[in-house]
Amino acid sequence: MAAEKEPLLEIQELTQRLNYLNYQYYQNSISEVPDYEFDMMLKRLQELEEQHPELALPNSPTTRVGGTITKNFKTVLHKYPMLSLGNTYSEEDLREFDKRVRKAVGDDVEYVCEQKFDGVAISLTYENGIFVQGATRGDGTRGDDITANVRTIRDIPLQVHGENFPELFEVRGEVFMPFSVFEQLNQDREETGEQLLANPRNAASGTLKQQDSSIVASRKLGCFSYGFHCSPNPFTTHSESLQAIQKWGFKVSDTWRKCTSIETVLEYIQEWEQKRLELPIATDGVVIKVSSYALQEELGFTAKSPRWAIAYKYPAMSAATKLQGIQYQVGRTGAVTPVALLEPVLLAGTVVKRASVHNANEIHRLDLRLGDVVFVEKGGEIIPKITGVDTSKRPDDSQPIEYPTHCPACGTPLIRTEGEANFYCPNDEGCAPQIKAKLEHFISRKAMNIDGLGPETVEQLYQLGLVRHAADLYSLTYEQLISLERMGEKSANNLLSSLQKSKEAPFDRVLFALGIRFVGSTVAKKLTEHFPDLEALRGATLEELVAVNEIGERIATSIIAYFSQPENVQMVEKLKEAGLQFKAENTAPALESDKLTGKTFVISGVFESVSREELQQLIITHGGKVVSSISAKLSYLVAGDKMGPAKLEKANKLRITILSEGQFLEMIQA
Ligand code: IVH
Repeated sequence: MAAEKEPLLEIQELTQRLNYLNYQYYQNSISEVPDYEFDMMLKRLQELEEQHPELALPNSPTTRVGGTITKNFKTVLHKYPMLSLGNTYSEEDLREFDKRVRKAVGDDVEYVCEQKFDGVAISLTYENGIFVQGATRGDGTRGDDITANVRTIRDIPLQVHGENFPELFEVRGEVFMPFSVFEQLNQDREETGEQLLANPRNAASGTLKQQDSSIVASRKLGCFSYGFHCSPNPFTTHSESLQAIQKWGFKVSDTWRKCTSIETVLEYIQEWEQKRLELPIATDGVVIKVSSYALQEELGFTAKSPRWAIAYKYPAMSAATKLQGIQYQVGRTGAVTPVALLEPVLLAGTVVKRASVHNANEIHRLDLRLGDVVFVEKGGEIIPKITGVDTSKRPDDSQPIEYPTHCPACGTPLIRTEGEANFYCPNDEGCAPQIKAKLEHFISRKAMNIDGLGPETVEQLYQLGLVRHAADLYSLTYEQLISLERMGEKSANNLLSSLQKSKEAPFDRVLFALGIRFVGSTVAKKLTEHFPDLEALRGATLEELVAVNEIGERIATSIIAYFSQPENVQMVEKLKEAGLQFKAENTAPALESDKLTGKTFVISGVFESVSREELQQLIITHGGKVVSSISAKLSYLVAGDKMGPAKLEKANKLRITILSEGQFLEMIQA
């Protein structure tokens, strides 16, 4: 026991000091000590934590949950320029490349073939085995220091494993967002009426530029490492480096292969043309690198790229076709998005007639004109998109596309909020597509889950003037339904019973079904856990709303705006009269004690014996209140494992009492 006292003290001191320095550095941009000194302390702490895992503190700066806010990214100079690669699409060019290489350095050449990952290039600097800097490529010479964000990427080691690494080295790699994460992210954005992200690469790049590193942490980015820079370089070949960095803890894709002839390179390329489509991340080609560092040096560089490497790009799944028109779609939130109508064309096995153009800026950027021959591509995204115009085929009398100034559906002048790429139709009460899309959202599976009511029936109900708002659905009669086209006795009865059944759907589903902007299903759950009924939610102030875990100002403002519109209040009242649930079932659990009455808690990190939700529940059932942000008025911070350093620092500064999981449990059991 006595022997452990010393490391405990040292761990406590280091943790506190490093957290303070981190805070000064990231929050206030103040470096109180040289980077090296900081890194040595962090290394020492990591060593101690490795030796005594039971002593590691929940607030250790070695954790990765993010929480750091960086207002402006620092510019950093790359020690080794981040070059790009010469691209080719042809076998012939590859053979030329091979000939050039062999002519320059002789016949004894070994290549390494790798996948060309379609993400964002990153440079990772390590000093004494510790990750000290993550930077974007920028212009190749200077990039942005995005260290705090990079720290949250689990494929990137914060501390190199093993012993045999140089004092200072750099690893290069590609940060990506896996398809699955990308699709989920877009699904969430669709649910909350936000603009969809174009592809996984854009999503990864946008995520890396977030100022709040906890957002980055939540996006589950990955990173494949493919490069090693160090002088002097302890390795003689690139393939050796790949193996070494993998041992050190970097994630290296196991798709790479050594090839000693151009024929085997071509085989690799052919083999991966289809196989790559099964990878969980986007790739767009193969990178071929001369493996020997000595030969790399001999071959040298052109102005922009190395002579020892080349990228073979698979032919984009692309086709040329005629742009016949642009249709403007009005979504549930009133956002007007352009969709290109194309002369049907075969692309990667499917006939494409429509393509997304994203927004007005895109029409302008591409200089799209009606009648143009355009290129359509299928990339990581599911919906094809227009990537360019063949201006050589442009008809003389082609006309630029005028973006509509008025809603194509209802004629209301469109508005554009600052910072948003989309135009909006503000006529949410009278614009047909908005009304219909709102109804479709209301009946959708994750909302009220009303069977037997597809878009066609919604259309009919709307056309006949039977339904304008969701509440009208509940006054539909059998006679009205049976009079609809393609509606039989059985379907009418099914629909009525489905509507009846939906009255049992819990409050959070009803709240989600209302379609309040930014209130997706998860947010709706959070809200109903906190506000026991509609009245409580409707009466909540901005402060009360943002006090709820995970509810930010944007969501809070949107909720307030929603309930400030009399039509919305009226409709909600009607839904209530119809018998829908506007009271949470379990939010007011019986009080087990009043030990925590009048006390407020912030929960942070992960816990051993209870989940966060259980902890929350315990606080509530003992009379306490859970809030999301630390303020001077806060009673306690319950700190779990992997808690953000910034939070702890703030709590310390405001002298908030910090409870461990054990201390908290003791408190309610006492
Ligand atoms: S090596 C000097 N290897 O492609 C060569 N790059 O056009 C440095 N990339 O900026 C790059 N996968 O973002 C290399 N296996 C791979 C790669 C790869 C994707 C990207 C990287 C780079 C761009 C070069």
